[in-house]
Amino acid sequence: MSKQPIGIFDSGVGGTSIWKAVHALLPNEDTIYLADSANAPYGQKGKEAIINLSIKNTEYLINKGCKLIVIACNTATTNAIDHLRNTYNVPFIGIEPAIKPAALQTQTNAVGILATKGTLSSALFSKTSGIFASNTNVIEQVGEGIVELIENGKLLSGEMKTLLKTYLKPMIDANIDYLVLGCTHYPYLIPLLVELLPSHVKIIDSGEAVAKQTKAILEKNNLLNMENLNSENLFYSNGNPKTMQSLLNSKYIVEYLDF
Ligand code: SIN
Repeated sequence: MSKQPIGIFDSGVGGTSIWKAVHALLPNEDTIYLADSANAPYGQKGKEAIINLSIKNTEYLINKGCKLIVIACNTATTNAIDHLRNTYNVPFIGIEPAIKPAALQTQTNAVGILATKGTLSSALFSKTSGIFASNTNVIEQVGEGIVELIENGKLLSGEMKTLLKTYLKPMIDANIDYLVLGCTHYPYLIPLLVELLPSHVKIIDSGEAVAKQTKAILEKNNLLNMENLNSENLFYSNGNPKTMQSLLNSKYIVEYLDF
């Protein structure tokens, strides 16, 4: 049993969708969330830059005593998790696009995936897609511009709707029945996506699976916090704290931190 916090980092505010799932399943756990919004988006950066930013975030969280780190960012996971696991002595939970359940369940044999360039071009994504979806028509779409709009507080804007219509068109034309959200910012788009997609299309994101995996790894390592009744949940952003604040219950306070 361990009272140390769980550390969570993302390129920005999107990983709060993962934090919500983790907190719902593990309400006793203290958490520290880092939003590296000053460097968002990670999705258009090269592998080395993504690894260096992931190291910076990880070292901050380790210095704060975190017992486990959730990489709440698909791009950082697919590019940096191997390096982080080989370098630091804490468990890491990563996020990969849920291509496997989509490929296993599709009835139309066509699934869409919306993710960053960094995720779709990563070796880890090619490997997963090759193993689980080689017989499925996977329509890949880079969500260029989406993270920037969310980080700038333009979540459900007209601009966002126009962008999504363009990105979804080839998927709708291919008759997808599953849309995989391969970026932790995207679950906040679900109201718009539901409006724009045919009603039979199911949307899959990774929040619940990540929360379950986090719990399983804490249990396995005897690190669960069994006692805490009032968990402490800290949120730091090196961008505009208001953007993240608007995505969280007002009982949580987002602080600016120059990290
Ligand atoms: C980004 O920073 O470009 C997106 C984060 C993600 O891949 O989840």
